[in-house]
Amino acid sequence: QKPIIPYEEIGAEKLSDLIDSFYSKVAKNPKLKPIFPDDLTETARKQKQFQTQYLGGPNIYTEEHGHPMMRARHMNFEITPERAQAWLECMYEAMDEVGLDGKFREIYYKRLVLTAHHMINAEDSNE
Ligand code: HEM
Repeated sequence: QKPIIPYEEIGAEKLSDLIDSFYSKVAKNPKLKPIFPDDLTETARKQKQFQTQYLGGPNIYTEEHGHPMMRARHMNFEITPERAQAWLECMYEAMDEVGLDGKFREIYYKRLVLTAHHMINAEDSNE
């Protein structure tokens, strides 16, 4: 039996739409906007590469940028529990927008929750 590769299940086009939708929400999110660049074109390009390999597709992120070391790459940014929550909310809404549902969405989202929590490197501010 042919193994099921999540990347093949979602497809390159839908994954690309998901990431574009996600960053359009990040750009408007008051908790996230301040730590992201104004122009998210390059960020989205890298995220598409990363998600491709995260979902079992070709390792195009690593080919261009080296080992992901995602937690380390996020150390320059204050990733608080609040920001992790906001990040996940943007992703959840993006999944709604592109019509990702069912078991695939459930498993993918749960995995993103774990990865997002792993990225936390700072405490919530009291403001
Ligand atoms: C880059 C924030 C979670 C994958 C970035 C950048 C920020 C950021 C500020 C830099 C953008 C730039 O300069 O272009 C956050 C926050 C998160 C989070 C607040 C909340 C937990 C995640 C998760 C993943 C991820 C869960 C993967 C599943 C990436 C990738 C990049 C990136 C692939 C590009 C890295 C590169 O420059 O090569 N993130 N991130 N992030 N993030 Fe996150």
